[in-house]
Amino acid sequence: MPSFRVAAAHHAYPVVVERGIVAAAAKYLPDKAGRVFVVSTEDVWRHKGEALAKALDGRAHEVLFLPGTEEQKRLAPLEALAEEMVERGGDRSSVVVAFGGGIVNDMAGFLAAIFMRGIPVVQVPTTLLAQVDASIGGKTAVNLRSGKNLIGSFHPPAAVLIDPAVLDTLPDREFRSGLWEIVKAGIIRETALFDYLGQHCADVLARRPEAVDHIIAESVRMKVEVVSADEREGDLRRILNFGHTFGHALETETAYQRLVHGEAVAFGMRAATWLGEKAGYCPSPEAARIHELIRLYGPLPPLDGISANRLLALLVHDKKTLQGKVHFVLPVKVGEVAVVSEVDPALVRQAIVFALS
Ligand SMILES: NC(=O)c1ccc[n+]([C@@H]2O[C@H](COP(=O)([O-])OP(=O)(O)OC[C@H]3O[C@@H](n4cnc5c(N)ncnc54)[C@H](O)[C@@H]3O)[C@@H](O)[C@H]2O)c1
Repeated sequence: MPSFRVAAAHHAYPVVVERGIVAAAAKYLPDKAGRVFVVSTEDVWRHKGEALAKALDGRAHEVLFLPGTEEQKRLAPLEALAEEMVERGGDRSSVVVAFGGGIVNDMAGFLAAIFMRGIPVVQVPTTLLAQVDASIGGKTAVNLRSGKNLIGSFHPPAAVLIDPAVLDTLPDREFRSGLWEIVKAGIIRETALFDYLGQHCADVLARRPEAVDHIIAESVRMKVEVVSADEREGDLRRILNFGHTFGHALETETAYQRLVHGEAVAFGMRAATWLGEKAGYCPSPEAARIHELIRLYGPLPPLDGISANRLLALLVHDKKTLQGKVHFVLPVKVGEVAVVSEVDPALVRQAIVFALS
């Protein structure tokens, strides 16, 4: 199976997609690594810890647990873990292995970024969403009371090991959450992936290995290409936010309780596609193709009782708002998006109303 390489201006690292790669984890630890700290959650460790423990057999390693919920994706658990690392002999030669979903990826990555001013992290994502998105690109963060991911840093991993076999215990809703990010990859940049998703929907939803492995590899290749070209989200990387501006407002409004991340992104992609068409960026037949693919991978949970006006107000406070301007990633056609900032707020509100319906 494929192996990719992020080759950004200041960092390069392998991203390997391979069934069973967890068993080879020790091979990807940096040379001269000291004590290894596996950071996971009790839930993930119970499901999948055995394979990683076996892989690290013979290496000095410790397993530490994070609480693993979005409410506890905060700085305090990291401070506690850092204390534990020191107590267990952690030093500047230590390495973190992040083993879990996107929350673990983000938190363990940030822990590695700040422990002793920075130690390496190997990302071993265990959700589909983390495999195709969160683990690649070096963004790490925790939440503040005032908002999501508001403190963090860019801390590129030493390696990313993506093992589609670990997904077999992933609940269906979490699997579908990751699928929305793959649908996004098709819409923003990958026409062949877009077509594949349309033609093989049944195989994908049934989790047939050849279909799952194919769409993971294609999405990973896309993300590797984009972050290699734009490590710090100055330009090209912004296309990855397609669906996220609207989606993020919805997650905030529902306090991260009603929807999983991918579902919020799907809502956002519906809104952005409607807006792209009505604001004159995307021809109607192309918008219809995009809406159809989103429909195919639905349904989304009901969104009754959510106020379009409140979502509109939240958009303005998004951390991706720059100098008071909301930037929207809108489709131009299948496989191409544009980042635009001058959009009529009345039209934006209508897009929200459409996506809520
Ligand atoms: N850094 C980035 O670039 C980036 C990108 C996208 C999302 N994120 C972040 O990722 C987080 C969401 O990640 P997520 O969707 O993976 O959710 P998550 O980390 O909460 O994991 C979802 C659930 O799946 C369980 N789980 C994980 N692996 C499992 C497995 N193999 N078998 C059974 N259960 C398993 C977890 O215990 C959890 O309950 C958000 O906090 C978001 O901000 C970061």
